[in-house]
Amino acid sequence: MKPIPIILSLVASLAARASDPLPLIPLPASVELTGGTFPFTSATGIRYNPELAEEAKLLAADFKKLTGVEPAMAINKTRSTGLSEILLDINPKADLPESGYLMEVTPEAIRIIGNDAAGAFYGTRTLLQLLPPSSAEIWKATKNPEIPDVRITDQPRFGWRGTMLDVGRHFMPADDVKTLIDWMAFHKLNVFHWHLTEDQGWRIEIKKYPKLTSVGAYRASSPPYGDRTGSDGVRLGGFYTQGQIKEIVAYATARHITIVPEIDMPGHMSAAIAAYPELGNSDIPDYAPIVQTKWGVHPYTLAPTEETFRFVDDVFTELCALFPSKYIHMGGDEAPKTQWDKSPRVRELMKKEGLENLHDVQSYFVKRVEKILAAKGRKLIGWDEIREGGLSPDATVMSWRGEAGGIASAKEGHDVVMTPNTHMYFDYYQAPAAQEHARGKDHEAIGGLLTIDKVYSYNPVPSDLSESEARHVLGVQANLWGEYFKDFKKVEYHAFPRLAAVAEVAWSAPERKNYQDFLLRLDGIMKFYDAAGVAHGEVYQTPVRKTKDGTTVETSLGAHDDHWAELAFDGRKDTFFWATRALKADDHLKLHFKAPLEKESLVKVVTGGPASRNGDKLDHGVLECSSDGSSWQEIAKFEDGGAKGKIPAGTNHLRIRVTVAQSNWLIVDEIGID
Ligand code: ACM
Repeated sequence: MKPIPIILSLVASLAARASDPLPLIPLPASVELTGGTFPFTSATGIRYNPELAEEAKLLAADFKKLTGVEPAMAINKTRSTGLSEILLDINPKADLPESGYLMEVTPEAIRIIGNDAAGAFYGTRTLLQLLPPSSAEIWKATKNPEIPDVRITDQPRFGWRGTMLDVGRHFMPADDVKTLIDWMAFHKLNVFHWHLTEDQGWRIEIKKYPKLTSVGAYRASSPPYGDRTGSDGVRLGGFYTQGQIKEIVAYATARHITIVPEIDMPGHMSAAIAAYPELGNSDIPDYAPIVQTKWGVHPYTLAPTEETFRFVDDVFTELCALFPSKYIHMGGDEAPKTQWDKSPRVRELMKKEGLENLHDVQSYFVKRVEKILAAKGRKLIGWDEIREGGLSPDATVMSWRGEAGGIASAKEGHDVVMTPNTHMYFDYYQAPAAQEHARGKDHEAIGGLLTIDKVYSYNPVPSDLSESEARHVLGVQANLWGEYFKDFKKVEYHAFPRLAAVAEVAWSAPERKNYQDFLLRLDGIMKFYDAAGVAHGEVYQTPVRKTKDGTTVETSLGAHDDHWAELAFDGRKDTFFWATRALKADDHLKLHFKAPLEKESLVKVVTGGPASRNGDKLDHGVLECSSDGSSWQEIAKFEDGGAKGKIPAGTNHLRIRVTVAQSNWLIVDEIGID
């Protein structure tokens, strides 16, 4: 046991912060270090405006969680202790922006003044990020831990700063949902979009329809990691009782987070239809609904009947009693029309309502749902497929198939939330798949590659919107689809640290964003994740198209995606050159060194990489070197995809040359020269 060195290093890292940017994510609108420090003592207390009792209580609880120390609490009427206090107040002049706050740290006190309760709350989140992470140890080891004196003014860029969690594919226990909400609050995210129903499971108790959960919340089997078409044969499921939902809603509300519940329809409804088969297209042949046991899009859709709309009305009646959110999400995505196409009832409806095609049926469905919600005083939001067949007038659109649906909707005057799969789909890999797979089967993800720098680069206001159209962009949201999240640790792995990047995209002014500065601040934030045991991913450094030392590269082969030839000599083991086609004799990759080699060196080339990368290795080829670039000397033949040999001092050029054509492509790993 060596507690002392650990404590010393933590204290040292706290001290080192003076020269680093404060580890605040999202970056506030203005941060001004004023010199000096505020020392916490055992007497440091919280004094608060009684309107901020909830915010003060949460600050005290979170402070204790971090430091092990419970601050004394006093409401405003109590006289100020004058010293060492954290003051929470609402700005009497109301000259701060909505949800904005001012925070002043001086040697005597910390003052957080919100424009409103939300602003004051965000100020408390900023304060928590200024505390040393793992601070319980520091608190024990240090008499008066300090934070720097600073003046911060701050406000959010967007009102919708969202995170979606899909609990349909894998149920996540209530405590895990609260954990996600905690971290959302930590990063000032404020909309939790809860995707509560799926083909593979219905997750919310609806008292009028008990079979939605007794039948619909359980499936017979799931595909195991590493076998997408397979079945583990294990019955799996779960759901939230209305009591649990109320508790989670209150938990989120206290943290200034709105929960937007989603009941996905008319597609993604297999589980509900398995529970109540009469809700589906039961008038078609071979109708046999089940709670689905495979991922993907399934044909079972709700029938657009009066019975279905009564069901929808009933479900939304119970939903609206649980969720105060202005917006209710009706899904609307990926609803195949195959069953409607075969259904005599749908044909009849089309005739009766004058619907020309099946997109019109989708539009009819959405408009009926919108009416149901409007009657309950709520607003409909849905995925961009709700545009099919014409969008209902008051609908808000969540743009996921890129930005096109969002742009078109904003131009038509609809509000939109941007959540394009190109930048906001956190079920995608955060590092190349091969690298993730090397960590184990349970690192499988749905596909794609969404690195944190790409998330960070996103601007939710597309450049082709005019200023007035841009006002329809309510904000931005990251989506955590759950097919490959068998437990909450996997959710954490995919969510963090990318959610920190979303927070900054959603909160901070675009002109203040700077990825390198973000990474410095993220170092500090990662310590909070670590201290709390969050199973976060790592920052993947996206390769840049450069060799490690200015060596130039020449090749007869094109590169697959961003696996440029330069990556065969970029100094990184996790990157590689990937040629796009079958190889012909005399295809080559040449390195032209920046300077002649000073001494005889050993060269090692490996092609094909680990088996998980397709095994695109060189079957027949030679490794050659040259001092003048025209006469070449063979140093080794490739065997089993590898070659190594010595090259003399003075070598200027190295060449991998294909000697016999092959149908496989080619992967070249980092070329080693010692
Ligand atoms: C979606 O990803 N189907 C909204």
